Amino acid sequence: MKHFKFISYTFLAFIFLFSFTQCSKKEDKNIIKIGEYGSLTGSEATFGTSTHNGIMLAIDAFNNQGGLNGKKLKVITVDDQGKPEEAASAVTKLITSDKVVALLGEVASSRSLAGAPIAQRYKIPMVTPSSTNPKVTQVGDYIFRTCFIDPFQGQVMANFATRTLKAKKVAVLRDVKSDYSVGLAEFFTKTFEGNGGKVVADLSYTAGDIDFKAQLTAIRSKNVDAIFVPGYYTEVGLIARQAKELSIKVPLLGGDGWDSERLTEIAGTALDNSFFSNHYTAESQDPRVLDFVEKYKKVYGSVPDGLAAMGYDAALVLIDALKRTPNQTPQEIRVALAETKNFQAVTGIISFNDNRDAEKAAVVLEVKNKQFKFVETVNP
Ligand code: PHE
Repeated sequence: MKHFKFISYTFLAFIFLFSFTQCSKKEDKNIIKIGEYGSLTGSEATFGTSTHNGIMLAIDAFNNQGGLNGKKLKVITVDDQGKPEEAASAVTKLITSDKVVALLGEVASSRSLAGAPIAQRYKIPMVTPSSTNPKVTQVGDYIFRTCFIDPFQGQVMANFATRTLKAKKVAVLRDVKSDYSVGLAEFFTKTFEGNGGKVVADLSYTAGDIDFKAQLTAIRSKNVDAIFVPGYYTEVGLIARQAKELSIKVPLLGGDGWDSERLTEIAGTALDNSFFSNHYTAESQDPRVLDFVEKYKKVYGSVPDGLAAMGYDAALVLIDALKRTPNQTPQEIRVALAETKNFQAVTGIISFNDNRDAEKAAVVLEVKNKQFKFVETVNP
């Protein structure tokens, strides 16, 4: 009797498991899985969180309007804690165990550079919303970006330093462990020196550092007109505070890595009269931006930063490509992405060039009273 009971329970368990897997298989057919990897925690947490919010705003709206011929998009999100090695395992997991057909991410170039070779090896298309280092899309034909690249961004800020600030001598302070920071420092220097200016001090730090007094003291002795700090907001905020403590009064200049509301929470007013380049301004009166800002505020209760806008646009571009594929296979998606032309997005018009990069305008923003104020738009 005992045996009989055991056998029948085992039998029931099998039946249950079998119908469960069949059921989820059926469900799978109507679901298109997209992987997202980003820094939801760590010292660049606002990058990942804002990007995720932007992505979900686009995806939820698409699903609510019926999805793709009845199929719904499902985003599977993995937090890489802002670490390249975690980014690599996130991408491996999303591809091999979740079986996603496309990837969105990362924000930081060093983490996209950790994830991209895996996506390329498995031939799963990846769209980074905001990694700007040129090497990212050079990984291969499955890697795309919906933003401009750092040679352009560096040129924008170098020309701003020369033409608007009339700077002749500047210092550069870069994060040596960040592909983004190192690259942007180089591109800035090239244009600035091409303009006849001089980089009289070139110093470095590593993400995670909290004391920048030695570098700043060295810079102070050089009497520079500005300091270019192509880093991310946590360190830049601290650098700005410590520069102020050392009575350094010249403007700091930077790139998109400054874009976080945490920046001025950390820096206080120490960044007033400083400038950085970015992908977007929430002050724009473009109807697409107005519509996006309104929708975003309704759902999240705050004004979207550039990362949110970039995440939204990357998701829109992917959705647009999916709509042009018969079966949503990774190969079809790659081809459809490559064929993207004049896609009207919030942060500009997106077409991929031969390197799978987007060529879009940049904006220069001024930090004023802890806020980011629009200064100018620079076209490529
Ligand atoms: N462009 C940065 C990078 O490549 C990431 C970034 C984009 C950060 C936009 C903030 C805003 O690493």
